[in-house]
Amino acid sequence: MQLLDTLVARAIPWVPRALIHKISRRYIAGDTLAEALVRVQQLNAQGFAVTLDVLGETISTLAQAQATANAYIQVLDAVHAQRLQANISIKPSALGLLLDVQQCEQLALHILDTAALHQNSVCLDMEDASCTQKEIELFGRLRARFGNVGLALQAYLRRTYEDIEPLVREASTLRICKGIYVEDRSHLVQGAWNDRSAINEHFLKHVVRCFEAGSFVAIATHDAALIAHIVERVRRDGIDRSRFEFQMLLGVCEPLRDKLLGMGFNVRIYVPFGKDWYGYSTRRLNENPRIAGHIAKALIGL
Ligand code: FDA
Repeated sequence: MQLLDTLVARAIPWVPRALIHKISRRYIAGDTLAEALVRVQQLNAQGFAVTLDVLGETISTLAQAQATANAYIQVLDAVHAQRLQANISIKPSALGLLLDVQQCEQLALHILDTAALHQNSVCLDMEDASCTQKEIELFGRLRARFGNVGLALQAYLRRTYEDIEPLVREASTLRICKGIYVEDRSHLVQGAWNDRSAINEHFLKHVVRCFEAGSFVAIATHDAALIAHIVERVRRDGIDRSRFEFQMLLGVCEPLRDKLLGMGFNVRIYVPFGKDWYGYSTRRLNENPRIAGHIAKALIGL
């Protein structure tokens, strides 16, 4: 089965877009904000908080960056108007990080200003290694102006051990995730290139560092063993539940997220929506161990 998964994963670039769209519906709330808001209402009613992601990644014009910023402002206004429990997650490259850092910063400030007005918050997703340094610097400048911004860090990167120190010293809000991009081995912690579980000890250390330093930490993983370790640690050290939350992606490992909620933990669901679904969906499909089955089922259903 593992060989079949690998073969199917390698074939993704050749799978028709219509098929990818069909399979990835479970990971995406829809093409429009209205569809996403319905999903947020449902999740909130179940007890989950949400973070909304307007799909879109590296862009080629500043007009696209402006359009992304406008879309996020619409999201913040709608969430406020409907009194929903949802903040937003942004990929800085979608605001033009790799085109014009100053313009990207201006747009991010405008979004943060709107979020602050609505007493809401923003998390900067972490992208591939070509963005890491720029994003950390951007985060520092934004945080000097606004307290309602958080940053994702990736446990698969060696450099995270150095990056996290100044951030936790300032009690920054952080999201720890394993990391999803295909990176050169030289950037990665030992063994991470062929064994995702090799990242776990590093993930755990970063989470514990946040606990020790008093940084609010979002624990973004579906890894049951890793979550069990963290729950054990939280209980052992008497960490208050208000100091962290678990985060999971829409459509992934739902029984585990329900269990965590049932145990009384705060759980936030990452809900992407929008027309630009292809990059996000193919990354999700690549990491799904049952991808071969999904593709086969979708092919039969076509
Ligand atoms: P791992 O990949 O080891 O998976 C553990 C288990 O979870 C698998 O064995 C499988 O059972 C299940 N699983 C995982 N993904 C699945 C899927 N798509 N379908 C079905 N089952 C699946 N990355 C990044 O680089 N920058 C970022 O900013 C973020 N932000 C982010 C926010 C949130 C809320 C989450 C949950 C994740 C991210 N990520 C991210 C992605 C993250 O880095 C990582 O790639 C995925 O979460 C998968 O890693 P796990 O920690 O779940 O472990």
